Amino acid sequence: MILDKPKHGGYNLKRGYYMQDKLIDIKNEALAQILQATNEKELEAIRIEYLGKSSGRLTLIIKKLPNLPESERAIIGRFANEVKQTIEEALKSQVKITNSERQANISKTEWLDVTAPATTPPEGHIHPMSQTLREVIRATNKLGYQTVMGPEVETDLYNFERANMPKGAPSRDAQASFYLDCRNSKIQPGEILLRTQTTNMQARVMEATKPPLRVLVPGKCFRVDDVDASHGFEFWQFEGFVVDRNIKMTDLFGTLDYILKELLPGIEIKFWSTYFSFVEPGIQVVAKCTICIGKGCPYCKNNGWSEILGAGMIHPNVLSFAGINPKEWSGFAFGMGLSRLTVLKNHIDDLRVLTNPDIRILKQF
Ligand code: DAH
Repeated sequence: MILDKPKHGGYNLKRGYYMQDKLIDIKNEALAQILQATNEKELEAIRIEYLGKSSGRLTLIIKKLPNLPESERAIIGRFANEVKQTIEEALKSQVKITNSERQANISKTEWLDVTAPATTPPEGHIHPMSQTLREVIRATNKLGYQTVMGPEVETDLYNFERANMPKGAPSRDAQASFYLDCRNSKIQPGEILLRTQTTNMQARVMEATKPPLRVLVPGKCFRVDDVDASHGFEFWQFEGFVVDRNIKMTDLFGTLDYILKELLPGIEIKFWSTYFSFVEPGIQVVAKCTICIGKGCPYCKNNGWSEILGAGMIHPNVLSFAGINPKEWSGFAFGMGLSRLTVLKNHIDDLRVLTNPDIRILKQF
C-alpha cells in the first residue's frame, strides 16, 4: 500500500510521503536508463548508481528509513524493497537482451557474403532543364557572352515599352500578361507584371553598361495561356544579344548556326522571316519536329516543323531608348524557349513532363 499525499501539503524529510515520491522517481529513472543500455558495462554502471552499497541512490534512501515515524516505516520499507526488486529484475533481463543481440550481430557478420556485389546508394540527378541551361551557358560562354539574370516581377516599361512595344501595340496581344494587384499602392494598375519575356533585360543591361555587349539572359517567363503539350503559363527562356560596331545580319546567322549546332547536333533547321517589335528585320528559326521527323504530330500541330527561336537585328528604337546611338552601334538579339529546347533534345512529346515531379520520369534523362 502506498501512502496518500497529506492534504496540508509541505514536505518533510522525515515523512514517508516524501520518500515515497523519491522512490517512484528513482524507479522510473532507473528503468529508463536500463532500457537504453546496450551492453553489460553500462548496466553495471547503472546498478552501482542506484544499488551501490555505500552511495547508491536507492541505498541512501533505504538508510534513512529508521528516521521515519513507526506508522510509516513498514509501508515505505516494503515499497523500497519492491523498487529494489524491480530494478534488479530489469537489470537482469536487459543483460540477457544485450547478450542475445550481440550474439545475433556476431552471427550476422559471420555469415556476411563478402563476394556479394555492393549496393550503391541512390544518386542525385540534374534535372533535364538544368542540363540544357548549362549547355546553353557553356556554348555562349565560348563566344564571350556574359550570363545575367533579371527580375521576374517587372515593370511595363522594361517588359514592353523599352522593347519597342508601346501601350496599345498589337504585338502585345501575343503576350497576354499576369498583372500584379497594385490597388493598395501608388503604382498605376497595369504597370507591374510577371515578365513575359527575357527581352526585358536588353534595356536594363544597355542602360547600365556601355557597349560592346555580349549577354545571355536565362530566366523564367509567364504568360496567360492554356496549358497543352507545347504551351504553359510558366516557362523558361533565354535571350542572347550583342551590341557592337558594325554588327550585321551575317553575324547573327553565324552565331545561331554555331549555337544550334552545339545544342542540337544534327537537327534540320530553316530560317523564316517574321516580325518582332524589338528587331528589324526579324527572323524565326524552325526545326524539323524531332518527335515525328517532319511527318506531323500533335506536338508540332501537324506542321512537321516547330518554331524554336526568334531573332533579328536590334531595332534602332531599342538602342536609342537606352541611350545608345544607333548610327554608331548596331546589334542582334535572339530568344529561345529553354523548355522547348529541352523537349526537342530529349524527344519528349509533352512540355508538362518537365514539371512532373515523378522521379521515375526524370530519371530517364
Ligand atoms: N521575346 C520573344 C518572345 O518571347 C522572343 C524573341 C524573339 C527574342 C526575337 C528576341 C528576338 O531577342 O530577337 O516571344
